[in-house]
Amino acid sequence: MKIRFVASDERVSGTVVVGIWEGKEPTAAARRWDEASGGALSRALAAPTRFKGKKDEFLPILAPPNVRATQILLAGLGGRQTLDARVMRDLGGNLLAQLNGAGETEATFALDLGAPLPVGEAEAAALLAFGAELRSYRFAKYRTREKPEKKPSLEELNVATADPAAAKRAHEPLRKTAEAAFFVRDLISEPANVIYPESLAREAEKLKDLGAIVEILDEGVIRRLGMGSLLGVAQGSARPPRLVVIEWRGGAQGEAPLAFVGKGVTFDTGGISIKPAAGMESMKTDMAGAAVTIGLLRLLAARRAKVNAVGVAGLVENMPSGTAQRPGDIVRSLSGQTIEVINTDAEGRLVLADALWYCQNRFKPRLMVDLATLTGAVVVALGHDRAGLFSNNEELAERLVAAGKATGEEVWRLPLAESYDREIDSDAADVKNVAGGREAGSIIGAQFLQRFVGGVPWAHLDIAGVAWSKKDAPTVPKGATGFGLTLLDRFVAAHYEAP
Ligand code: BES
Ligand code: MN
Ligand code: ZN
Repeated sequence: MKIRFVASDERVSGTVVVGIWEGKEPTAAARRWDEASGGALSRALAAPTRFKGKKDEFLPILAPPNVRATQILLAGLGGRQTLDARVMRDLGGNLLAQLNGAGETEATFALDLGAPLPVGEAEAAALLAFGAELRSYRFAKYRTREKPEKKPSLEELNVATADPAAAKRAHEPLRKTAEAAFFVRDLISEPANVIYPESLAREAEKLKDLGAIVEILDEGVIRRLGMGSLLGVAQGSARPPRLVVIEWRGGAQGEAPLAFVGKGVTFDTGGISIKPAAGMESMKTDMAGAAVTIGLLRLLAARRAKVNAVGVAGLVENMPSGTAQRPGDIVRSLSGQTIEVINTDAEGRLVLADALWYCQNRFKPRLMVDLATLTGAVVVALGHDRAGLFSNNEELAERLVAAGKATGEEVWRLPLAESYDREIDSDAADVKNVAGGREAGSIIGAQFLQRFVGGVPWAHLDIAGVAWSKKDAPTVPKGATGFGLTLLDRFVAAHYEAP
């Protein structure tokens, strides 16, 4: 799909989309199109339909008289006071879905949101385009017999705006964000026979082209460093592990970096504590945290963010085999703490234990945020539209909550406390990887991680419920969501980038 910003909505072919405020109140552009089409809009609005101009309401006027457009699509804008950046972005996404659903190939947005807007006119146009772009994502590379009528139809999208050059400038970072989101969604969607530790590391290595510094630690280096916890998970697989380390130095020299750490279990069978067969295929997404971490660094590099950042991703495959670790095994983590592995399916925390310790010890970061599809329990607690947030730092937690609200990738804070921590004291080692029962499973996971963050301001996002979606959302078609990318990009831009 080609996106263009245009100065005028006159003489357009295909569908022209015009905005109608709640209460059937036409925008100025709607009035112009009404006049040009000999009153076709007024007649449609007067006809008995359910269309009231509310958000997500659409009313098509097919083959309107006197105009080149083959269709005028009335789009409900809702109430003026509810319009914010997120709503505009979502409107672009919903419109894209509507147009593709109707089989349209060319469309022009002439929404004419007018003043006063919470963002500038150019920014509003850019947000509409951004939303449409995000919604247009598909993972269809393995569908070789797809019927043409199943493919998305929209080829050209024009966005009418007073100053197309300004809109294009405003769109540039958003275009890069969409690109990074697609990269992340692709990585998560790919099956585990395509994306495994080595191949995922190769994808990360491509960030060198954008000026990032990328180091891939192989199994030998990981062993020499002493990452016994990560290696214990990897040892059951024929695929060797990798540790990805990405640095983006866009800030002042010597300034402590922001650190992001991702769980990259390219497939999670559960290991010897094996998972049931039903639904196990979804465990190809157990590297979503690593994908978002790599994607975020890619985005920061692509938009040359004025900040120092590092991304660390621990990549392993969790398999049962003759070489797999057993329940009861005790491993020595990089931090020196010994871990009793009670359940080999609580593997994400074992990988992160070494990745987090390595990250804080090597980079002395200003703060550390990890992303992990860590627990099924967080899905029970929060379902599929909020991620779990845990933090040892109030300011960090507040900033993440705010960035979540602004981007629609919402997070909900859950507690950490000494009493939970007691549950993972082990009789045989320093710590065990699960508590006795199933209670407070997500908190227990977070408490385990906290033992490996060395007192750095840290937050953990448990994205198990939000990394994959079974239904379409305005800017996220069903499938891999890339949850966390726009949230963390916003978090960085809002608080840590030099102007
Ligand atoms: N990768 C899973 C968590 C998960 C569950 C992610 C559902 C996405 C959807 C994780 O490694 C896991 O298996 N966790 C166990 C922990 C338990 C053994 C303490 C779980 O949640 O059952
Ligand atoms: Mn597991
Ligand atoms: Zn897992």
